[in-house]
Amino acid sequence: MAGKLTVIVGPMYSGKTTELLSYVEIYDLGKKAYSVFKPSIDTRYGTETVKAHSGIEVKATVISDPEEILRHIDESTQAVFIDEVQFLPPSLSDVAKNLVDRGIDVFCAGLDLSFKQNPFETTAKLLALADVVIKKKAVCSICGEHNATLTFKISGGENEIDVGGKEKYIAVCRDCYNKLSRGEIDASAAII
Ligand code: ADP
Ligand code: TMP
Ligand code: MG
Ligand code: ZN
Repeated sequence: MAGKLTVIVGPMYSGKTTELLSYVEIYDLGKKAYSVFKPSIDTRYGTETVKAHSGIEVKATVISDPEEILRHIDESTQAVFIDEVQFLPPSLSDVAKNLVDRGIDVFCAGLDLSFKQNPFETTAKLLALADVVIKKKAVCSICGEHNATLTFKISGGENEIDVGGKEKYIAVCRDCYNKLSRGEIDASAAII
């Protein structure tokens, strides 16, 4: 039987990694064989764990090329988990398709949009292939509502590939994003 591709997307702090790790726990409790991967670019929390903003973490294999996933798994593997997919090349979607066709469940988490609201190509391709899409929301750092679908950059320049956390990015709803962009409010109004 074929596996399923589940893709978890949303802005920063929306709980993507936490949700990914909750699925890892389900496979772990069920004594299933699985592997966890993350791109080498995401160096925020040390190199060999996937870690949520809340602090929970699991061991992961660091990769830069999606093909490396195929070399790390074997016939016993029942699930593959990949965090921060926006930092991996778009060929990840071919690897994901290969895995589900072989009966392996694949769980991916990552940003759908950059802070400029440009889609990340790898995430977009995975979303198109997905059996299950989970779109998460964060608490808006400006208005406090649980309706943040976007990430706003508050410092660090214009680069759309720029690893960081609260010092650089806040999660916001569309109305607050537009007010920040128009200069009607500034990031000092952030409550989170
Ligand atoms: P993601 O991978 O989507 O960035 P994580 O799963 O790493 O999210 O972190 C989610 C956690 O971040 C929440 O459980 C909460 O503790 C914390 N957090 C910090 N800022 C916010 C926010 N603006 N909205 C919601 N949760 C936030
Ligand atoms: P997170 O979704 O787990 O919070 O992590 C997102 C990572 O992506 C974090 O290191 C910041 C980075 N990032 C970019 O490189 N470009 C962007 O446009 C955004 C919004 C985040
Ligand atoms: Mg995360
Ligand atoms: Zn808002």
